[in-house]
Amino acid sequence: MTGMQLDPEDERILAGEEGETRQKMLELLVALGKVFGAERLVPIKSAQVSGASYKTIGKYGLDWLTSLDAKAVVPAVLNPIGMPRTRWEEMGINPAFADKQQAVVRAYERLGVRLDCTCTPYYLYSTGYGEHLAWSESSAVSYANSVIGARTNREGGPSALAAALIGKTPCYGLHLEHNRMPQVIVRVQGDTRDWSVAEYGALGYHAGKLVGNRIPFISGINPDRDQLKGLGAAMAATGAVALYHVEGVTPEAVKIPFDISGLETIAVESEEIKTLFKEIPVEAVAVGCPHCSPAELEEIARLLTGKVVTRPFYVFAAQGVINKNTKIVDSIEKSGARVFADTCMVVSPVMEQYSSIMVNSGKALAYVPYMCGGQARIGTIEDCIRVATE
Ligand code: F3S
Repeated sequence: MTGMQLDPEDERILAGEEGETRQKMLELLVALGKVFGAERLVPIKSAQVSGASYKTIGKYGLDWLTSLDAKAVVPAVLNPIGMPRTRWEEMGINPAFADKQQAVVRAYERLGVRLDCTCTPYYLYSTGYGEHLAWSESSAVSYANSVIGARTNREGGPSALAAALIGKTPCYGLHLEHNRMPQVIVRVQGDTRDWSVAEYGALGYHAGKLVGNRIPFISGINPDRDQLKGLGAAMAATGAVALYHVEGVTPEAVKIPFDISGLETIAVESEEIKTLFKEIPVEAVAVGCPHCSPAELEEIARLLTGKVVTRPFYVFAAQGVINKNTKIVDSIEKSGARVFADTCMVVSPVMEQYSSIMVNSGKALAYVPYMCGGQARIGTIEDCIRVATE
């Protein structure tokens, strides 16, 4: 009937025996599977659900969420929302927006979605090589596939939520090993030994435009995990890269003997990347896109020691990461900087008040002008702190 192999439990759900919401959610997954030629559903370890900021989903999204009645059957984490859940007044959020945002959060909570509100769920919950997931935020998808070696397509908010409520996703695309092979080579030439997260973000910003939606195999770089996070987030933003491999670094590039002969090669000069670092005046500084790792928070605290910020300086991280690093966070906030959970410089309406924002992220460099209307400048974390405290 469906063209996909379904088990008896799926058939019961489709017959409406477990309620209308689960029926509709499974219908959505089956329809998606049919469009993409999936032969079956695959159980997932976790879901990560976007469509969480009232700024992006608005009234219709909220109405749809409140009409649903079911519970997540696998761990499901919410994407960043438009404000910190507890410190929204301090961030200057308009109370009318806060009301709507709280309603969205309550709707997800009722559906059993965990309110971690982060694009870095991998810092909070263990995610392993080869595990099937249904994640939707593009940087989280990129990190899961590329850095961890887990398997997820880039889900839309509704399909990730459907997968959370059913515990399965259609098995197509990046769930299948043969679809995870490199499709284009990016050869980075020149000296990259002193590159930081910002340079890797800028490389991702540049390379994403060149590779589009293909799977790149990148050579000539040796990034650590935070640098991979910045690289992948930016490639997903300016291209549609949901999986990339780095020669000798990322798990599948190490484990699988890829045949890259005959692939198109794109050369990128390290000096080209430096040209993205333009010195324009800025009104605020914002870091933590994707949300900061514990090591990044530690570095920010170290660089801010003994300094006082002279313009708004926002740091974004998951609440769970903040809770485990309270001394470091206190030390950052002593400077006047603010460490906010649950939100970010792109999804919060607060950032729209600034005409220019400095970031250390290639993804934010791409999205701030588009989502917040202001100019964006990229710099290293050292540059960001110098500008925030000068
Ligand atoms: Fe995360 Fe927001 Fe950046 S969702 S990847 S911090 S745009």
